Amino acid sequence: MNRLIRPVSIGTLALKNNLVMAPMAGYTQRGLRMLARQQGAAMAVTEMISAYEILRPSRKTRRMIRIAQDDHPLGVQVFGADPLMMADAAARIEQMGCFDLIDVNMACPVRKMIAKGNGGAMLRTPDLGLEILAGMRRATRLPLTVKVRRGYDASAAGREQVERLLAGADELGVDAATIHGRTVDQLYHGQADWSFAVEMAGRLRMPVFGSGDLLDAPSILDRLRGGGIVGVAVARGAVGHPWIFREAMALDAGLPVEPVSPAERVECMWQHYEMLRDELGDYSAIRIMRRFGMFYSKGIDRARESRMAMGKVASRDDLAEVIKEYFE
Ligand SMILES: Cc1cc2nc3c(=O)[nH]c(=O)nc-3n(C[C@H](O)[C@H](O)[C@H](O)COP(=O)(O)O)c2cc1C
Repeated sequence: MNRLIRPVSIGTLALKNNLVMAPMAGYTQRGLRMLARQQGAAMAVTEMISAYEILRPSRKTRRMIRIAQDDHPLGVQVFGADPLMMADAAARIEQMGCFDLIDVNMACPVRKMIAKGNGGAMLRTPDLGLEILAGMRRATRLPLTVKVRRGYDASAAGREQVERLLAGADELGVDAATIHGRTVDQLYHGQADWSFAVEMAGRLRMPVFGSGDLLDAPSILDRLRGGGIVGVAVARGAVGHPWIFREAMALDAGLPVEPVSPAERVECMWQHYEMLRDELGDYSAIRIMRRFGMFYSKGIDRARESRMAMGKVASRDDLAEVIKEYFE
């Protein structure tokens, strides 16, 4: 049988399959990255970090980039609008020796980013985007990838700018692109339109990964079945449900999709908390678990009450109490 989930290479990085845990600010700390890989994702990507922070790391960033031996394959996502600084950051990342790939964020729609010409704003300045990628390409031998949306807006000019950026990146030797099927001005509203990513996949030499609305295993397989796309970057679908990767693999292999047992969910929540605590300390771990708790609650009995209770946990003891009351 021809499998949809299969090995893929990004430049010199050989991955065991084409399922990636997408970068998500506030979510892809070591905890979710490890859980995603345990459940089958081939690679994970950090939260986005500015080139400035890479070069002059704050205490928080230093903690973020103290990467554990077992947290691999791992991409680091960087953003910035200064070509020299981005190239320096790429060289510095390679020197750090703890990342397997560098992903450049030219997709983020957050207003603070756009105002400074970062993230998705780069789609309106493709020449600058290409200057940045060219400098980074020269500065590092690590696999280099770029993440974009299908346009700044839905206009023909917006689309043409992204086409130009991607064609140029391909020429420069960028190793892969991830295309999120929303426009920047769409934020997270509406549905992702994958047709642009499929079309680009047919035109570009580099592998194209798709992103957008991969909220369950069948949607992952549907997008891979669509053809063209080499792989997928799963984002919200894995938050509070890292099992999405194993479910997609089971489905692809024609095996039954085992539902997640309460014991497994509880075990996963504890593992998640402990990894966050080891990485970031208890204060941050608890606050991040509050955020994830909302998602771990999905589909359980008394989901609404458990969500509210998770939203209020202030200590490890609170977490233990809520897990016992609602999740066991
Ligand atoms: C809370 C949140 C944070 C995100 N942070 C990042 C980020 O730091 N870098 C990035 O490239 N994309 C980021 N994304 C976009 C996701 O990687 C993904 O492309 C997008 O959510 C579409 O996939 P989905 O509809 O399956 O969630 C973020 C998305 C969300 C919801």
